[in-house]
Amino acid sequence: MATDILEVLRTKRDGVELSDEQIRFFIDGYTDGSIADEQASALLMAIVFQSMSSRELATWTEAMIDTGDRADLSFLGRPTVDKHSTGGVGDKVSLVLVPLVAACGAAVPQLAGRGLGHTGGTLDKMESISGLTTMLPPDRYRQVLADVGGVIAGASGDIAPADRKLYALRDVTATVESIPLIASSIMSKKIAEGTKGLVLDVKLGSGSFLGDDAMTRTLAETMVGIGNDNGVRTVALLTDMDQPMGRAAGNALEVTESLDLLRGSGPADVREVTLALAREMLAIAGIDVDPEPVLDDGRAMEVFERMVVEQGGDLAVPLAEAAHTHVVDAPRAGFLRRLDCKAVGVAVWRLGAGRARKEDDVSYGAGAMVEARVGDRVEAGQPLLVLHADDPARFDGAIAALDGAVDVGDEPADPRPLIADRIA
Ligand code: URA
Repeated sequence: MATDILEVLRTKRDGVELSDEQIRFFIDGYTDGSIADEQASALLMAIVFQSMSSRELATWTEAMIDTGDRADLSFLGRPTVDKHSTGGVGDKVSLVLVPLVAACGAAVPQLAGRGLGHTGGTLDKMESISGLTTMLPPDRYRQVLADVGGVIAGASGDIAPADRKLYALRDVTATVESIPLIASSIMSKKIAEGTKGLVLDVKLGSGSFLGDDAMTRTLAETMVGIGNDNGVRTVALLTDMDQPMGRAAGNALEVTESLDLLRGSGPADVREVTLALAREMLAIAGIDVDPEPVLDDGRAMEVFERMVVEQGGDLAVPLAEAAHTHVVDAPRAGFLRRLDCKAVGVAVWRLGAGRARKEDDVSYGAGAMVEARVGDRVEAGQPLLVLHADDPARFDGAIAALDGAVDVGDEPADPRPLIADRIA
């Protein structure tokens, strides 16, 4: 049956399911430019309101994958497994997890993203290492993966090109916030990447992507379903992002903290989440190795150092340091009950660590060090956050973002669990 774009738009607008043919017609037509942005925008907005059935979502995801290549990594001779995080503030887990799981015997073919808005991006963090590039040509990416066992790189244009166009359009049409659109966007790229296993670190709390725990849980279930239906063994951990992870937020500050973790020290929360994700990844890969000693005895660090060298980086060159700091003190004595994670993310972004548009540069040295965790006893005037910026004029905007973000009270707050649930 022939179809046309107006029929597709009317069908979804009226709450009727799209046929497989209509979905493929739309995804292929938008990717090759025969369907216009305004028509695609109308369909995306209709999907935000009318959602998709599981059959529509399966076809939509498959159609997005089919616009590009699905990598075949069978040449590696090691089981492949990757991790995706829905992102947050201070989430430097990939920098530690990728070399750790590779050091345990799996291949980790991580294609990561850049930061946008209040969440940081793994590629920006890696690129704060002097000389390091994440934009590896496909042959080089495969070579590093084969030689080292792990790589963190940007996706080439052949990985789900439909998503590249659709995500850019969603970003400017207020159509990002739809569970089927988010789930298909993330999973089409991960499935096309060629990994056979995937662990999703889905963040809950004020700094999470959706900011709503019930919707986030549905997103996790939806992504796990898509992965398993497409032959990628997928598990999700729901982990806390109600306060920043670890102490450091901002590119180079997070690399320094990651190096501490790779030396077997570093903040306990990041270490615990990293080890939990590593155990899930290794179980999926069928590798019976305890990752904890591999993190503590330097084997994970050795893989990280090799990854950096293979990607052109030089850890001997000091990381960028911002020229100016500003301390945010505790307003009174008591217990830190809340440190709004999204507010810290926005502050870090305003300090220069993130970008407003994807073509913007980031400041590698900018960011914040979080000096107290929820539940800690603090004294009046004790530093809670140390802000770092190249340009001191940025402090005012960051301080404004933190207005109302801190709650110090007489009673200690109940700590939220670091790992709230597992979905398989
Ligand atoms: N990240 C993605 O890759 N896609 C989305 O839709 C949202 C977050």
